[in-house]
Amino acid sequence: METAYSSDAGSPAIVDAARGVTARLTHDAPDPRELKVHRDQPQRDVPYLPTDAPVVEAMMRFAGVNENDVFYDLGCGDGRLVIAAAKRGARATGVDIDLQRIHECYENCNKAGMRHRATFIRGSFFDFDLRDATVVMTYLLPAINARLIPKFQWELRPGTRIISNYFDMGDWQPDQRIYVHHRTLLKWIVPAWAQGTWRCVIDRPSDRTHMRLELHRHNQFVWGNAHIGKSRIPVMNGRLLGDQLTFTLSHPWHAYPRQRFTCRVEDHVLRGTCQPAGAVGPGSQSITWGGLREGDWL
Ligand SMILES: C[S@@+](CC[C@H](N)C(=O)[O-])C[C@H]1O[C@@H](n2cnc3c(N)ncnc32)[C@H](O)[C@@H]1O
Repeated sequence: METAYSSDAGSPAIVDAARGVTARLTHDAPDPRELKVHRDQPQRDVPYLPTDAPVVEAMMRFAGVNENDVFYDLGCGDGRLVIAAAKRGARATGVDIDLQRIHECYENCNKAGMRHRATFIRGSFFDFDLRDATVVMTYLLPAINARLIPKFQWELRPGTRIISNYFDMGDWQPDQRIYVHHRTLLKWIVPAWAQGTWRCVIDRPSDRTHMRLELHRHNQFVWGNAHIGKSRIPVMNGRLLGDQLTFTLSHPWHAYPRQRFTCRVEDHVLRGTCQPAGAVGPGSQSITWGGLREGDWL
């Protein structure tokens, strides 16, 4: 049963296809998604179990939720995480498939005085659009987290923080794991799409080196080859943290020692610096480099 939108009579209307009911929207009308109430109770993928209050606060701190964030709790239960995020100034949304939970969310949210920053939607998180999120939280089961990986990696922008209460997420290893209040919390930073072929230039003071970089990626791990002249050099220790890519070129070339590359991945552009691996601090020689993605987008 789907809610459809119709504007044939000049103003938008909500048509509940199953019931044949049409409601005309006015400026004061609630968000149409909030009207998704006259439905059979759909199947829950995870039973209801609320997160303890101290753990809620620990999750907020672990994510660093603040007023710049767009926050989602997938399977929001009684709304406690959403309300906590709203109290920290975030624009917060909870989605839950259970109608009773959504009623509780609104009740709790009104009591907390957070109605202006919090929204609750009844529906399945599998169908939910997460593109504007900067923080996503889950307290689901490992198999459900694993099913959400493609959605997370396709839909969420690089750098988005995902926090899970206790459960891991298939073969996507967390970037950070902490243990607080007898609870394990896990954090993933959505990695950028660094895979592909990149035409790069390394700008040394004495010369410019051209490099073709072929990168493969699985979750936050990156590997591949760099082609410089006739040499093929393996990309080592490739790692993404959001849009920050680091790797080393293990093979010395042009009499230079092993180099550590860092860069930012911006859609079709790489911008960064490289320096001899092991060299740190302002005294070490840092060289700028950059790349453009090869392909049809040009
Ligand atoms: C373990 S509870 C977590 C509640 C809340 N996030 C918290 O930490 O207190 C899981 C919630 O997911 C909801 N849920 C289960 N399957 C769902 C689905 N497919 N879409 C949306 N919500 C779902 C359940 O109704 C339940 O409220």
